[in-house]
Amino acid sequence: MQADLLIRHAAQVVTPVGRRPLRGKALGSLQVIPDGAVAVREGRILAVGPTAEVEARLREVTEVLEARGQVVVPGFVDPHTHLVWAGDRAAEFERRLQGATYLEILQAGGGILATVRATREASVEQLRAETRSRMDRMLLHGTTTAEAKTGYGLAPEAEFRLLDVIHDLDATHPLDLVPTFLGAHAIPEEHRADPEAYVALLVEAMLPAVAARRYPVEGPWRAPWTDGRAAWFCDVFCERGAFDLDQTQRILEAARRLGFGLKVHADEFVPSLGATPLAVALGATSVDHLVSTPPEHLALLARSETVGVMLPGTSFGLGSGHYAPARRFLEAGGALAIATDLNPGTSWCESMPMMMALAARYLGLTPAEALAAATLNAACALGLGHEIGSVEIGKWADLVGIDAPDYRHLAYRYGVNLVHTVIKRGKIVVREGQAVYRGTDGARPGGDRP
Ligand code: NIG
Ligand code: FE
Repeated sequence: MQADLLIRHAAQVVTPVGRRPLRGKALGSLQVIPDGAVAVREGRILAVGPTAEVEARLREVTEVLEARGQVVVPGFVDPHTHLVWAGDRAAEFERRLQGATYLEILQAGGGILATVRATREASVEQLRAETRSRMDRMLLHGTTTAEAKTGYGLAPEAEFRLLDVIHDLDATHPLDLVPTFLGAHAIPEEHRADPEAYVALLVEAMLPAVAARRYPVEGPWRAPWTDGRAAWFCDVFCERGAFDLDQTQRILEAARRLGFGLKVHADEFVPSLGATPLAVALGATSVDHLVSTPPEHLALLARSETVGVMLPGTSFGLGSGHYAPARRFLEAGGALAIATDLNPGTSWCESMPMMMALAARYLGLTPAEALAAATLNAACALGLGHEIGSVEIGKWADLVGIDAPDYRHLAYRYGVNLVHTVIKRGKIVVREGQAVYRGTDGARPGGDRP
């Protein structure tokens, strides 16, 4: 065997196994290889096992990376982010600390709508620069693939601009992005008096236009599975003050007819709107949030093929004591993933290890379960379980080296970055905690700032 890269003598190589999500009690069953090694060829994993065994099978190696003192895990997959926006909502955060609620602020034209105003006003260059710096932070924290939603444009051209930024950055940054169209994130100001007119615009004009839109598939950092589609998924924020169940259904059905995979923001605040059973009935790829989901809806989801994505950073970011009932979902046999929900309102956090730390404390996950929920199951929430999410022969070599003797340090420690090395499709993009990649345009991390 000939390898381009050999990572050897890792304190442990730790990974979930398979192409499908680990369900229920099986979520915590990881493979742990002490003194582990991973060999990589042409971006894919060629061999994994104890260092002595892997080395014995290798004839030639181009580059060797000593991983002593590190734990090697799959690159983290963040399956729910609102990646592209301009500005911040620090003032709103202070108002919330003083007692204003998230839905009240949205009702008064703030919240998401404040970010929509800032995003519409920003130039494409500014949007790209702000988004790129977030992607750099994600990569430095070990995320190698992330979903990226639109949703701060809420008008045809404004949403297309966000898709342009997502595709441009996907091509020029090592972090792979999976695009989701979230035109149904809020009712934009200009349609406030007649929300149905906006739903009609979404169904009749925006969704078909997004479905027809194509992007170039070239670029050294383009994911190999990219096919030029503007968005793989369509998502809807089903919530009081956003889209009701009937509107959600019409939007998702239209999206399904156009070939989009489906996702839903369900049960984030108001319980029992019914978005979870709807999403299951429509065969959604994932249902996300699930904070106030009633037990019977959770059980229905658990029996389905749809992945449940829980977002502990959102509850934490809102300073709320209400976390999604992850244990109940797992007891019912559900397929659980976790994500950051990265956005300027409820959860501005680029770190999946932070989500693992929160999941261990507030969702009741073991460190092993948190790791599987942040890797293989998160990949499955994007339909990519066959390509990424585990350290297995044939999958893409997206790997993270953690500066720790044992994988449990990932959920155990928090608030500091333990990521030492990041490898994206066999290329070292973070070394000793520093980004070392170059984009197509020669852009360095942070080098695109205006
Ligand atoms: O998932 N709930 C809707 N969307 C985001 C928040 C977006 C924002 O506040 O800007 C969420 O929490
Ligand atoms: Fe969200």
